[in-house]
Amino acid sequence: MNEKDIFEDQDKSLLEDREENPSNPDGSNRSTNEENISGEKEEDVFEIRAKDSFQEEDEEDEDEKEDEDEDEKEGEDKEDYGDVEVKKEENKEEEEKQVRSYSEFRREKEGEEDLLESIGLKKEIEKAEKRIRKYIRETPLVYSPFLSQQSGCEVYLKFESAQITGSFKLRGALNKILSLSKKERKTILVTASSGNHGAAFAYTIKKFGLKGMIYLPGYTTKAKIDALKYYDVVLKFFGTDCVKTEEHARSEAEKNDLLYIPPYNDLKIIAGHGTIGIELMKQIDKIDTVFIPVGGGGLISGIIGYLKPMDEKIKIIGCQPLNSPVMYKSVRVGKIIEMVSKPTLSDGSAGGIEKGSITFDICKKYVDDFVLVSEQEIKEAMRLIIEKHFSLVEGAGALSVAAFLQQKEIYKRKTVVLVLSGSKIALDQLKEVIS
Ligand SMILES: Cc1ncc(COP(=O)(O)O)c(C=O)c1O
Repeated sequence: MNEKDIFEDQDKSLLEDREENPSNPDGSNRSTNEENISGEKEEDVFEIRAKDSFQEEDEEDEDEKEDEDEDEKEGEDKEDYGDVEVKKEENKEEEEKQVRSYSEFRREKEGEEDLLESIGLKKEIEKAEKRIRKYIRETPLVYSPFLSQQSGCEVYLKFESAQITGSFKLRGALNKILSLSKKERKTILVTASSGNHGAAFAYTIKKFGLKGMIYLPGYTTKAKIDALKYYDVVLKFFGTDCVKTEEHARSEAEKNDLLYIPPYNDLKIIAGHGTIGIELMKQIDKIDTVFIPVGGGGLISGIIGYLKPMDEKIKIIGCQPLNSPVMYKSVRVGKIIEMVSKPTLSDGSAGGIEKGSITFDICKKYVDDFVLVSEQEIKEAMRLIIEKHFSLVEGAGALSVAAFLQQKEIYKRKTVVLVLSGSKIALDQLKEVIS
């Protein structure tokens, strides 16, 4: 099969299947004899079904049982890194208290090499700025009178939720794809995403007439899947944790001589996100602290890459849900760990981190503190943005607001920026949030 056949056969029909048979969002009603690009049967690729509102109830029951079995198994071989138990959390209250005192465990900085300098991140960000500026929006930085009054700080919101495609992800995807050679751009590009990077990737592919394929984890929300339907990209589902989806996508790309575009573990992706730092420095005279949602760590690494060299006194705070604090726990342990994430409204940031990711080293060295927030705190933050700023942010996008509200006493009289990273909230989530 040549590349063109692969792409065409493969799978506009997937999207058609999804439209015709919405109860089966992965299109797995197709003949199991159909083969994908690596010659696998479709049933192998679609081994994990999207676990969203489409799914039939009895399937859900079975899944729940499987999850329970898996949890039991996980418990047996859990790892214990001193005070950080990474697999099974037995005493939630204790755990919550423990994780909120992160700053006691901050890394020793002295004597370490300047990692940002050695990877040349600020220069990469300046190049990214030139490369992508005409294709992106300068997103608004909006003063929040309500949050400022509540906290005794000067609070500004950076509305990356207003970026084209609904999140900051367009910055990284554009920078990476526009950096490819002519030859590379002719290959089918493959990526893995829980939705927002996928949308940015799909938009870029379409804009520049390229070919692409996206692997999504099974928990991807309907809102995010729907947003991808209008682009000419092949959608595939694999895994229940984004890191498994990423590993699979990378290995499929390698096996089939296609080009993998990572969602965060890549200097060009990170540098694209770093253009937020350039905007912030133009938009406001003084910044004390920036709160940033963290998943794989691409967004925070990019902002660090510009702001820290410009002014090392700016404090960078990583924000994660208590239900999926993988970067936080990895940083504390000193290596990327595997852990089971629980369901969270912050689906965009949920899940594991790719082994060897450069974002881990950047977070370990330069994130000044982490704050973990509960599902209730995320919900309240989302509601606050609707009520006080008449704007929609998704769960991951509201992590910064939730984290700031939890910690606001510490930042009195400071100028604080909260990055609202994305807007794609599913309708059923929205109902839950405002009800
Ligand atoms: C809305 C939103 N916020 C935050 C993140 C986390 O970004 P990163 O993986 O670069 O840390 C994501 C990741 O997809 C996202 O979609």
